[in-house]
Amino acid sequence: MSDWLAPDVIASAPGRVNLIGEHIDFSQGFVLPFAIEDRTFARVRKREDREIRIRSAQRPDHLITTSLDHLNPRGDGDWERYVLGVIWALNIQSGLDIEIDGHVPLGAGLSSSAALECAVVLALNELFECGYSRKELALLAQKAENDYVGVPCGIMDQSVSLIAKSGSALLLDCRDLDTRLVPFDLAASGLQLLIIDTQVQHALVDGGYAQRRQSCESVVAKLEIASLRDLSLSALDSAQDQITVEEYKRAHHAVTEIARVLKAVDALTAKDFTTLGQLMISSHHSLRDDYEVSCLELNCAVDTAISHGAIGARMIGGGFGGSAIALADQAKITEMEDAIRVAFASAGFHAPRFFTSLPSDGARIEPLT
Ligand code: GLA
Repeated sequence: MSDWLAPDVIASAPGRVNLIGEHIDFSQGFVLPFAIEDRTFARVRKREDREIRIRSAQRPDHLITTSLDHLNPRGDGDWERYVLGVIWALNIQSGLDIEIDGHVPLGAGLSSSAALECAVVLALNELFECGYSRKELALLAQKAENDYVGVPCGIMDQSVSLIAKSGSALLLDCRDLDTRLVPFDLAASGLQLLIIDTQVQHALVDGGYAQRRQSCESVVAKLEIASLRDLSLSALDSAQDQITVEEYKRAHHAVTEIARVLKAVDALTAKDFTTLGQLMISSHHSLRDDYEVSCLELNCAVDTAISHGAIGARMIGGGFGGSAIALADQAKITEMEDAIRVAFASAGFHAPRFFTSLPSDGARIEPLT
């Protein structure tokens, strides 16, 4: 595109893996994700008019053109709605040329959409000198996804993408967005975290995620509490006759998962990987049986990893597809990958993809190149 000028600012933001604490960010729980090395870049330039042009480095021939006057929450569109949602949430009043260069695998449950939002929100914050803190930017990116794109996601993905630090997992208290870095150095203990992408495309825009969230909110309303964070297991058990069987199961997952995250932080701090692994396995069982967001491929990946020596394994992210993780001795990773490949082939599933990633830094402003 010959009239595509050099950017005024470049920002990048990573995807994430959640070690533990799934589907509890919107219940004011604790979560323990880390940022992965794969990042999405946003190259942004101010325009003199009110036009917005967006293109992707992966498809430079496909130009999306609109205007600030046509921003339309819950309107039609594709991935560019995440970009437009951020422009809308920040109430930007200048036209823009934006080029996205995405390297976070799409549909793999690694938060490519949060990486996209966070790269754009950080670039715009810099370009227009908005002065928002990282926490405020996370809330604005979440607002873009909730109110513009129409996905009722929690705050985990945007927070970790903006706040993470290399070498650490991020303990995030989703009640007040307080954070604590928890050193996460598997290599020093001879371990590795394998990411297994089932290649089953998950999309949070589908209804399953929203339904689960509604069940949790219904329990909160019926029991007249502030959030599931305020519910103990014994209080939940005594309130069984006030809620449906399904609501009980959803809340049971949330209450037990919040407790598991805190135990996982202790285990990680003590380098007690056996306990961490057990907590990951319990988390998977809870997501599979109580929360019912796993799927055959995720269960196959987790079960095969465990039967081939993983210390812990679980599905991650929204569920219904996407990725699982397995924690294992570095020496066992290749054998585990082979076993998962064979198990997928004999079940007639698509071939899985494998990744690993060290915990990386959150979003940053990049040098202009
Ligand atoms: C998605 C959402 C997050 C979180 C996870 C499940 O990634 O975007 O807010 O709810 O699912 O833990």
